[in-house]
Amino acid sequence: MISTKQAAYILDNLTTAVLWFRPDLTLHTLNPAAETLLEVSAKQACGLGVEQLFPRADHCHQALKRVREQRYCVTERGVRLHLFGAKTITVDCSITPVIVEQNIRGVLLELMRIDQHLRITREENLLLQQQAARNVIRGLAHEIKNPLGGLRGAAQLLARELPDKNLREYTDIIIGEADRLQNLLNRMLLPQGVSHKKLTNIHQIIIRVSQIISSEPETRIKIEYDFDPSIPELYLDPDQMIQALLNIMRNAVQALNGFGKIQICTRIQRQMSLGGRHHKLLARIDVRDNGPGIAPHLIDHIFYPLVTSRAEGTGLGLSIAQSLVNQHGGLIECTSQPGDTVFTIWLPMETEKR
Ligand SMILES: Nc1ncnc2c1ncn2[C@@H]1O[C@H](COP(=O)(O)OP(=O)(O)OP(=O)(O)O)[C@@H](O)[C@H]1O
Ligand SMILES: [Mg+2]
Repeated sequence: MISTKQAAYILDNLTTAVLWFRPDLTLHTLNPAAETLLEVSAKQACGLGVEQLFPRADHCHQALKRVREQRYCVTERGVRLHLFGAKTITVDCSITPVIVEQNIRGVLLELMRIDQHLRITREENLLLQQQAARNVIRGLAHEIKNPLGGLRGAAQLLARELPDKNLREYTDIIIGEADRLQNLLNRMLLPQGVSHKKLTNIHQIIIRVSQIISSEPETRIKIEYDFDPSIPELYLDPDQMIQALLNIMRNAVQALNGFGKIQICTRIQRQMSLGGRHHKLLARIDVRDNGPGIAPHLIDHIFYPLVTSRAEGTGLGLSIAQSLVNQHGGLIECTSQPGDTVFTIWLPMETEKR
């Protein structure tokens, strides 16, 4: 049998967050892991009711009440909790009744954070899906290219043989459309090109892309910068990075429809894994616009080739940008709501040749 002192020691050193609620569902005590997870001190939190501690987590409140009334254990997965500091975390939680001599003495809540884990899974899925989609597109593009060349050549021969010059209008259409398709296919195949990486100042790339964007006619868009000057030069292919950033920023300009604001922020991020590889240091570039945002039904698919909401769009911009950034061991992620869309480019900072 362990002593009370030993039990307290175990509780203090657990990595799982444990909270003990009294039968009236006010907090009796919590362990240091719970203080860290919820970003509150025991002094602030003890005595608070469950509704005060976890605002807007009705599902969790109901579960605690159910455990208290019915005296059985409950496990809830993927519960979102809003913390004091406006932060939100996703946890798995187990709720257990504390019963002493058949009397309910309280309810134990154990919380295990899973958003870190969710993020890694989502990222790995994104990379795998990208890779699969890219392979299909690449295979298809190659298959179309050869017959297309034949078709164009035959149309040219036909044009020369036509007795009536007026009929050339039709062969010109065939040739014109074949050229358009050829350009599309070339864009699809582009990211396979060899990278010419060298030590590059990422801020110069951002300024260069902003100049290109600003020089395009009819854009009255404000571009703001918030750079972290301590980011060292990164080992990148400058042209590929310009292309990737240009595709993201052009989308922002198009979404803003000529008016609005784009903010570009750079920061250093420590200790993060991307696609199964751990990196000690990464550069993070956020491109934020205050446009209408991405429709919820599109957001999970925007990095796929040919996904577009614009009549004149080909839906290749983001897929190409993602490929180019992947070639640098990085990743592009996106979050969006009306008035706030952020594309984040992660680039590992290891300077050794990859
Ligand atoms: N900043 C943004 N704000 C709102 N929607 C966006 C934004 N960026 C991308 N999108 C959405 O994502 C879709 C896909 O973008 P993507 O760049 O891949 O293709 P596109 O811009 O439609 O065509 P392309 O770039 O090939 O000319 C866009 O059609 C648009 O719906
Ligand atoms: Mg685009």
